[in-house]
Amino acid sequence: MEKLISLLGDGCFHSGEELGASLGISRAAVWKKIQALAELGLELDAVRGKGYRLPSTIEMLDKKAIEKHLSADVRKNVGVALHLTTPSTNDEVKAQVGNGERLQVCIAEHQSAGRGRRGRVWQSPFGASLYYSLLWRVDSGLSTMDGLSLAVGLVVVKTLESLGVQGLSLKWPNDILVENKKLAGVLLEISGDPMGTCEVVIGIGINLFLGLEHKKKIDQPVTDVHTAAGRSVGKNKIAGLLTTNLVAMLDTFQQHGFVPFKNVWQEYDAFAGQWVTLSAGENAITGVATGVSDSGAVLIRNDAGITAYAGGEISLRKL
Ligand code: BTN
Repeated sequence: MEKLISLLGDGCFHSGEELGASLGISRAAVWKKIQALAELGLELDAVRGKGYRLPSTIEMLDKKAIEKHLSADVRKNVGVALHLTTPSTNDEVKAQVGNGERLQVCIAEHQSAGRGRRGRVWQSPFGASLYYSLLWRVDSGLSTMDGLSLAVGLVVVKTLESLGVQGLSLKWPNDILVENKKLAGVLLEISGDPMGTCEVVIGIGINLFLGLEHKKKIDQPVTDVHTAAGRSVGKNKIAGLLTTNLVAMLDTFQQHGFVPFKNVWQEYDAFAGQWVTLSAGENAITGVATGVSDSGAVLIRNDAGITAYAGGEISLRKL
């Protein structure tokens, strides 16, 4: 499959016959592989008499291109693994725990079982988004992780902003929005010893170029980097810079926690000063969103005063 994709990714059309000859398989076998690609959500450009090619909007993951955007230190100390398809990059990178690396990245073109927060499915068609996970092994226990997911959201915002994406904001705890539409999401999964060595998996999905069919399957307003930047932004560049910036953030976070990131996070707070409802299970709290605490809890002001909430789902209250 990988060879077929790399043949199709050179911008030119290739006939079934030519592809078959290059791969040493029959035209019928080529057709089957093309069907398999369609099942991964990849819609090829197909023109009668010319053949097939990858849509021009797809830039394939490329280790060398990613490495160009890694700092020297990160290039030396962080392993980067690329996959055409995997159930979930979070699971894939977690499987690397045994190899002893402190930091490990896994990125895929497609996920067959991508997941979001709160048990939701994260639609993951081939090449439409960046499916990215970073494994961080840390010895300081769970209690020092407060606010980490907010700091990760901020890194995504700063990275995309440096690449020309404008109008970014953050919806507590870590949705990345443009014009109130979701551009990216973060799923943090922590395992290990609550008092000792933990494995933190930072999963990030960034929409790059969503097709209409894909958008229809998502039950909330969404946007992508191509739309928000008004041009395509290289996937490998995003992946490289994101890795460099995440590692720098983790160094600071490990020493000082969320506090150094709090004020900047609040500058991007999508709901600051607005009436919101925070739902947590059966409970719903209403009030004015007034930023976040030193540990990343959302602050809601109402008749009861200002209260910090560490969990729940926040939404704008329709007045
Ligand atoms: C959310 O907003 O609900 C979080 C979405 C996180 C999606 C990413 S894609 C890479 C990684 N692998 C997964 O299965 N999920 C995360």
